[in-house]
Amino acid sequence: MESYIPIKICDLSPFQTLDFDVYILLLSQNKYLKYIHRNDPIDNTMLLKLQGRGLHVLFVSSKELDAYKKFIAHSLSAKFKNPAYTSEQRIAMVKKEAIQLIENLETMSEGSDVSTWTQNCFEIIMEFIYQISTVDSMEKMFNDFTKNTEEGSPFIKHSMQTCALSVLLGTLLGIHEHKELTELAIAGLFHDLGLKNMTAAAQQKYFRGESLTVSEKLQIQKHPADGAEKIKSMFGNNIISQDVLKIINEHHVSTSVNAYPHNASLAELTYLTRIVAIADCLSRLVMQDGVFAFPLIVSKLILIQQRDLYHELDMKILNQIKTVATQQWEG
Ligand SMILES: [Fe+2]
Ligand SMILES: [Fe+2]
Repeated sequence: MESYIPIKICDLSPFQTLDFDVYILLLSQNKYLKYIHRNDPIDNTMLLKLQGRGLHVLFVSSKELDAYKKFIAHSLSAKFKNPAYTSEQRIAMVKKEAIQLIENLETMSEGSDVSTWTQNCFEIIMEFIYQISTVDSMEKMFNDFTKNTEEGSPFIKHSMQTCALSVLLGTLLGIHEHKELTELAIAGLFHDLGLKNMTAAAQQKYFRGESLTVSEKLQIQKHPADGAEKIKSMFGNNIISQDVLKIINEHHVSTSVNAYPHNASLAELTYLTRIVAIADCLSRLVMQDGVFAFPLIVSKLILIQQRDLYHELDMKILNQIKTVATQQWEG
């Protein structure tokens, strides 16, 4: 006789496709109803709806238990949640997988099969958000996500930092919506993808804050549009939202004469773009010192404010962040 085995909703991620059906239990009728059909990509709103109703358990048929076990064995999120790992080991795994994700995206060509990449992307992002939003100390989060990344390229370090900082700053500013945190994380991770069109030497110079040649400057000006275009051509608008593409495209918009792209208006920037822009500047400033430690974040925030270093940044948001960060640092 067919029976049903409970599974955890948190093991499923948006855009995954399963080779088994998933059921919900209708308590009032004591009936199992097919909720996620095999081979249908999992819709994020479906998952959010269930979580909104306080549901944490779904079911698979006992006949398909082997398929479910196989899925779990290959699933990144299940790997992250393995209780055998310490929190440090989990963070190390997330970092390693995030690096893979960025590197794979660079080498993917248009028309590639993007489903595995997409699935991994959402699983990693969800773990990033989980790790960051469950840590109540900005200092601990910053140190956890920046230590042990010294071996990576400046581009990788900066992408990871901007991702983690965007989510952290968003959380500090009171954003708890999963959709918004996901957008902050994805935009933070891929905001500078367009820099990959430059040589490694030019990237190094950019991250060190050294002066660039005229042609390098031109390439820098194109990187927001290049990055957004690359992602759009790979995924269309369905997987990476328009809002994320907008953040990537506009993360350097400012009132300054050196701003790019020139046709965007500062007043039209979304709240999330302003947060990613602050995270981006903080990470670049910290990288220029070559030291990755939380106290630098607070001192850089103060520096930005005192000298009006990046006048494209939203000073009201920056002030709020500085207040919370200083409180945390002074404990
Ligand atoms: Fe950038
Ligand atoms: Fe950046």
